[in-house]
Amino acid sequence: MSEVNAPVAGVALSALGVALIREMESRRPDRLYDDPLTSAFVAAARGDFTGTDGGAARWSRVEALAEQFFPGRSVGVRLVDDQVADAVAAGCRQLVLLGAGLDTRAYRLGLPADVTVYELDLPALFSFKEAVLRATGAVPTARRRILPIDLREEWASRLRDTGFRPDQPTVWIDEGALPYLPAADHRRAVATLTDLSAPGSRFGLSRFTVDDNAPHYVELRRLVSGDEDAAAPLSDGERPGPQWLVDHGWRTEFRAWDDMIVPLGREVAVHDPRVGVVHAVRE
Ligand SMILES: C[S@@+](CC[C@H](N)C(=O)[O-])C[C@H]1O[C@@H](n2cnc3c(N)ncnc32)[C@H](O)[C@@H]1O
Repeated sequence: MSEVNAPVAGVALSALGVALIREMESRRPDRLYDDPLTSAFVAAARGDFTGTDGGAARWSRVEALAEQFFPGRSVGVRLVDDQVADAVAAGCRQLVLLGAGLDTRAYRLGLPADVTVYELDLPALFSFKEAVLRATGAVPTARRRILPIDLREEWASRLRDTGFRPDQPTVWIDEGALPYLPAADHRRAVATLTDLSAPGSRFGLSRFTVDDNAPHYVELRRLVSGDEDAAAPLSDGERPGPQWLVDHGWRTEFRAWDDMIVPLGREVAVHDPRVGVVHAVRE
């Protein structure tokens, strides 16, 4: 696996943290999902980090951060798995992962062969991901199309060129990627996916009340930016909210996090009824 080249810096590095989280979950006897490919990403990344100057220390920081985020983030992965399964059962045959990172739903969810999974992320992420996947020899159950793109740029035509059909219902997943964009690009990305959404398409907006200055968020920003002074959160304008979705033809329903997690049996309640997900279906 000498060709792999993990994103040791930059925003794509955040995908490694989530891969570590999925590896931790997969090892648990009471696991909420199994992601067998994630250990290949983790092993390759660990090797690449420890081969760079100061990389071993950086890798330890990524691991420590993954442990801190694990309880809520891992449950979140399972909630999205369930949303995808529901959408596919309801007839969606297109799944678009915005900032797909090292997600392997095209492989691990047993999706039918007539489903197409479009994975959008930065070129640096895919040079690592595809090399690792090739080395494992894994085969997705669904059709898989990758788009190495920057979500801050125009991507709708690239998606169409890859076979995406705007006249077919789609399930759009933003699992921790769009908040990394500047607010104007975040708004543009949601407007773009709205334009590309046939009736019956699904999308979700997470509503958190996080303390951006909590130590693990500060550490995340430092690691991603590579700047030990980069402690300030992005607050450069309004992000798309539920009212925007309603005004643009989505039917929305808010589900509180504490209600959604009940069937999963994990102690990750937040005791704040404002925290949850705005589920949206295109009318
Ligand atoms: C926290 S990770 C989440 C990855 C994946 N959704 C998951 O849950 O495993 C955020 C992802 O967003 C991607 N990302 C951030 N900014 C991006 C941009 N401008 N264009 C494309 N992808 C971007 C990163 O490369 C990274 O893979």
